[in-house]
Formats: sequence, structure tokens, C-alpha cells
Amino acid sequence: MPYRFKTGLNWSDTTPRADFINRRQLIAGAVAMGFGTPALARINALPSQYSTDAEPNTLEEITQYNNFYEFGPGKGDPARNAGGLTTDPWSVKIDGLVENPGNYDLADLMSGMVLEERIYRFRCVEAWSMIVPWIGFQLSDLLNKVGVRPGAKFVAFETLVRPEEMPGQESPLLDWPYREGLRIDEAMNPLSILATGLYGEAMPNQNGAPIRLVVPWKYGFKSIKSIVRISLTETRPQTTWNMQNPREYGFYSNVNPKVDHPRWSQATERRIGAGYFAGREDTLMFNGYGDEVTSLYAGQDLSKDF
Ligand code: MTE
Repeated sequence: MPYRFKTGLNWSDTTPRADFINRRQLIAGAVAMGFGTPALARINALPSQYSTDAEPNTLEEITQYNNFYEFGPGKGDPARNAGGLTTDPWSVKIDGLVENPGNYDLADLMSGMVLEERIYRFRCVEAWSMIVPWIGFQLSDLLNKVGVRPGAKFVAFETLVRPEEMPGQESPLLDWPYREGLRIDEAMNPLSILATGLYGEAMPNQNGAPIRLVVPWKYGFKSIKSIVRISLTETRPQTTWNMQNPREYGFYSNVNPKVDHPRWSQATERRIGAGYFAGREDTLMFNGYGDEVTSLYAGQDLSKDF
């Protein structure tokens, strides 16, 4: 099945989460998600031509099944432990080969950015997937705003280190801070976004509040959460999972059904929430975003540059 983009866009508000509430979520999620408590401020965002028309996962699935090692290694740990993270005030340091370096308050950083709802496929390296209605803006717009200097070839990202509020950082589970990186052309691709919300509301802490990267054609671990530093560099930055296990996790980490992880196949995936009897789905090259990104890797052997 070729991947299809959403058609018939109009300039309406983002999809309210109520539109996506199904019977299962109503029953299972009503208590857990606190429906009936005052609604968070809705974020106005434009629909995007890059959204898939696949049905998003429920808010419950997206916020209760997470990877965020700063709050523990279990899938339920982030939802359980991220509530105490202070996300306001928040500043992001921008440094390296950039015209306007500095410590930017999040609001200043975001001023002038066009917020869109991007309903993206999200494929984890652990061979599960979700469909997430993110709210965010293009990373390229931010990089153009701060001004990329000639010679910058990569963009490096770092997550907050604050063990008082991030209990997972009390142990050397990973070498903190969590780090990620993109080549500059990958960062400039219109699909790469910095997300500040989902389901039309501010980003839940467990999903990487207040600002996280989303790169939909790469495995989920590239999509670094709770970003406090963005550096433009000439040399390829260190990245957390590659440092942890270079044999298993490369720098590129493009979704690729033909290159298996050394310990499991990447040919198929399990859609979270699809139900016990739903079969596994075939994983698509570049997670279905090949039309947009194949040209970035012309001439590269993706079994070596995995
Ligand atoms: N970012 C930080 N800082 N720490 C993490 O442990 N986990 C990554 C990525 N970003 C992680 C992170 C992994 S392995 C995945 S699959 C995604 O976040 C999960 O995003 P989600 O919980 O919003 O689905």
C-alpha cells in the first residue's frame, strides 16, 4: 500500500482530541486521562500537506506507552514520573556555527514560527509504530531564523539534565545528557519539525515537553525530547544510542525494512492499539516518506550508513 497524504485540506482549527475519542478510549481512558478536568489551552495550528490520513492513535496510547529514559526505562515510567518536570521557564541554548547564538527563551525562539498540525507515522526501532497528531514548526524555519553559518554540516541536540526532576538520571542508564544529531540537509528537510504539542494542546511532559524533535522517516530514538541545546557543527556529533551500542544503532537510523537490527527483524511492525487479532504491518522504506527524502541519500550504501 503506497503511503497517502491527507487530501482536501482547509484552514480550520486543529483536530480536537474529542474527534478521536473512540469507545475503547472512553472506557479505558476516562479516568486515567482526567476528562472532565479543565481543558488545557488549545493551540491554533494549520493543517499540513504532510499529514497522513491514517487514523491517529488515541491520546491514551500516545501518552501512556513511552520511551523517555530520564524518567525510567519502562514504557509506563514516563507517564508515572514526568509530572514534576518544570517546563516553564524554559530556554534553549543555540551555539556553534550560527549567526545569532544565545540563550533563547522558548517564547522568543518560537516567535515568527508557523505552527502546523502534522499527523505523522512514528516508527520505533523496537518494531512498533503509532500515528501521532503533532503540533509543531519546521526546524528549517528556526535554523534560518538564527542563521546557519557556512561550514555548518550537522545539527546537534541535547536534552535537559536535571536529576532532581528526572529520576532516571540518578542512575547511569545512559550517558547523560541524551544527545542526537542530524546532517544539515536532513535538518532542513521540510518533514523535520520541532514539536511543542499534540492533539491540539501543549506537549505532555512524558512526550518531551516543552519542545522535542520529530523526524518521521527515522527510528523514534532520533526524535529527542525536552531539548535545551541546539548546536551547529562542522563535525558529526555524538549521539546517545550510537555511543551506547555502535553495532546496533548507527548515526542515520533511517527506517529501513531491508536492514535488520542485529537482534531482530525490521521488516514488519506492530501498530500500538491495533488489537490482538490485527496482523503485523509491513514496514515501509523511510517509514513511507521516501518521496520526500530518498534524494538525501543518493550515492550512499544504506546498509553501511545505517
Ligand atoms: N529523548 C530523550 N531525551 N530521552 C529518551 O529516552 N527516547 C527516544 C525518543 N526521544 C528518548 C528520547 C525513543 S527510543 C523513542 S521511541 C521516542 O523518544 C519515543 O517518543 P514518544 O514517547 O513520544 O512516543
